[in-house]
Amino acid sequence: MDVIKIFAPATVANVACGFDVLGFCLDTVGDEMVIRKTTNKGIFITKIENFDLPLETELNVAGVSALAMYEALKPDCGFEIEIYKNIKPGSGIGSSAASAAGSVFAINKLLGNPLNTTQLTEFAIKGEALANGCDVADNVAAALFGGFTLVKSLNPLEILQIPTPDNLFATIIHPQIEIKTSESRAVLPDHIKLKDAITQWANVGSLIHSLHTSDYSLMQKSLHDVIVEPHRSALIPYYDEIKTNALDAGALGTCISGSGPSVFSLSKGLETANLVRQAINNVYSKKGIDFDLHVSKINSQGIKIL
Ligand code: HSE
Repeated sequence: MDVIKIFAPATVANVACGFDVLGFCLDTVGDEMVIRKTTNKGIFITKIENFDLPLETELNVAGVSALAMYEALKPDCGFEIEIYKNIKPGSGIGSSAASAAGSVFAINKLLGNPLNTTQLTEFAIKGEALANGCDVADNVAAALFGGFTLVKSLNPLEILQIPTPDNLFATIIHPQIEIKTSESRAVLPDHIKLKDAITQWANVGSLIHSLHTSDYSLMQKSLHDVIVEPHRSALIPYYDEIKTNALDAGALGTCISGSGPSVFSLSKGLETANLVRQAINNVYSKKGIDFDLHVSKINSQGIKIL
């Protein structure tokens, strides 16, 4: 195999209470990438469609992760990368993660799978770091492993795959404004109150339990964020109205997707997820801000070969 085409999915990081450690993978939103073996050695970004992103390998997240892997494996060939981007950069649904994870996934396939998924995540983190300004694995792990993932530890890297209840659907609103992850991290406090930390880690534990047991009622009680949301929600226009209307329409929980501006809701069943979509549409279509709305099953496979 000398060429491969993949779907590199969007992902939701944090999942309310799990800042920097939890993520899940979407099914209906993502980029496509074509990666081709070349006789010329090196990593070459040859095409990027839809968004104005750098073609220089060292300045592109897909290039940086691929280059790190390439330098470690030293294969006897090079690779060209074409990126057909559908996820807007700075959207909060893992745009950079899709590219960073997609390139290493595809190159691994073209080389006959020398690396396991945790090793691929290590390299994808290096691409993500270019966009985030720090090492974060929550989006890239969800893209590479699929389903729900927990970053147990960054050093050494340990990713846990958490089961996904069958009937769980996500509704995502993406207001068409850009919030850079670095800016969204800059508004966070250096210190938090012990009482808030206790609430938060209790919610992380119970959310994980609810995913293992398909306990939607416990999931509803766990999808809360007392640490990050109070600081970041002010960056997202009409955040409180989105949340109130989504919850009134039946969402189990609604919170900021990654570093925003996207906002995710989780619902039991497609019908409720669509009602949540309608409720959010009713609010946001009157605000004069362009937006996209997506409903997606949780993608338990992650990146797919097309
Ligand atoms: N966990 C990260 C954040 C996701 O919320 O800043 C963005 O990479």
